[in-house]
Amino acid sequence: MSSPAATPRPNQPHASNPRLALCGDILHFLRDPGWSEDAADAVQFEPDGWLLIEHGRVHAVHPADDPPDASWARQDWRGRLIMPGFIDPHVHAPQLDVIASFGAALLDWLERYTFPAEARYADPEQSRLGAERFLHALLAHGTTSALVYATVHKTSAEALFEVGQRLGMRLITGKVLMDRNCPDDLRDDVEQAERDCVDLIERWHGVDRLAYAVTPRFAATSSPAQLAMAGRLLDAYRDRDGGLYMQTHVAENRDEVRWVAELFPESRSYLDVYAAHGLLGARSVLAHGIWLDDADRALLAQTGAQIAFCPSSNLFLGSGLFDWGRARAAGVRVTPASDVGGGTSLCALRTLADGYKVLALQGQRLPAWQALYAVTLGAAQALGLAHEIGHFAAGTLADVVVWRWADGPVQQRRQDMARSLHERLFAWMSLADERNVAAVYLRGCRISAAVAHRHAGAAPGHLGPQPIAP
Ligand code: GUN
Ligand code: ZN
Repeated sequence: MSSPAATPRPNQPHASNPRLALCGDILHFLRDPGWSEDAADAVQFEPDGWLLIEHGRVHAVHPADDPPDASWARQDWRGRLIMPGFIDPHVHAPQLDVIASFGAALLDWLERYTFPAEARYADPEQSRLGAERFLHALLAHGTTSALVYATVHKTSAEALFEVGQRLGMRLITGKVLMDRNCPDDLRDDVEQAERDCVDLIERWHGVDRLAYAVTPRFAATSSPAQLAMAGRLLDAYRDRDGGLYMQTHVAENRDEVRWVAELFPESRSYLDVYAAHGLLGARSVLAHGIWLDDADRALLAQTGAQIAFCPSSNLFLGSGLFDWGRARAAGVRVTPASDVGGGTSLCALRTLADGYKVLALQGQRLPAWQALYAVTLGAAQALGLAHEIGHFAAGTLADVVVWRWADGPVQQRRQDMARSLHERLFAWMSLADERNVAAVYLRGCRISAAVAHRHAGAAPGHLGPQPIAP
């Protein structure tokens, strides 16, 4: 089980041979496994199996005893876990600069750390360097697709699209809309914001693997006129490449909820502010949703709008405990998300481990099956992208991550003691992190370790150390 796999040579499958076969412990989901520990019919697990990739797309998954013929180039990852790349439906690219910042709850944290960090992205060069750093980091953490917040600056979304396109990633992003209750250097206005959005949408939405997300930061920082403009954009592009996405935050923190109630006294609830401006639909992803009520949950279910559950962020900022059980009972779609930099890790496994604990505090238990489904096929289905990502069905793009089951003796011992596949996966999900990533493939092309880890070093021209206060 722990035998080290031979390190494959860097691969150029398209250049030399369009057929690539990866051998290892292949795991992906066929359907929603539900919330039981027993999910045998929802998952395909092929120990020492073969993942066949042709021209960057999944061709088939074969069991160990059905190896491909000699026309397939082989890479040996036996003893490693091969899964679809994880999907993060809520993460802030510029907030790598403030991840793990001390001592503040949401509104204070935005003022003290987040807004100053985001202000730097007015500089196109900082936007470009930030996009490079962020997307490489995401890949190095085993996440190959994401719905990402840029900053209010057009140039920051532009940079993410450019780097994402070059890498060949499935990436959805958009410039933040924010025209009140924020620092002057982060404030846009309705007319300029609309022009910027339209230009970005026209040039990037539906191009390669990119899509645009209309991104009102949260109700507190957009005027009613700006929210109305966001709704008009969604409507205007309803038929363009499946429509635009919409990302925002909702009901994360109790002070924030009170503030939004003061700003929008005519709304029944925080969520209703978005509903009133035409912002809720199947491509709407609202982060947090901790302080929703039954009527809100019914509205989410009815509109198909979904919640990004951000347990690491919710714990770190002290925001509260999201009740996934209630959301599920109400028919609300939920996908775990990192919410870096409120969250403290880009690695979906850390998100899931925190999610398990948040639910445990409420008497709920998150099985590894449901957890891993939710960040692969479940997330892809929620984003309307299951034809492309999230599983190894034939024809999907081969975004693949190879993981070490164990990194170090503690993880190894726990793996050795596991008596069932669920037990193994649950221990892996609870203990592993990005150090367990062995290889990342986008569209069947291996991202070299040097590229994926470029985020670890200081890029030329980076901001450099900040002065240290006593
Ligand atoms: N609400 C508004 N902006 C943000 C943000 O950047 N992070 C989090 N966690 N919540 C927000
Ligand atoms: Zn967020």
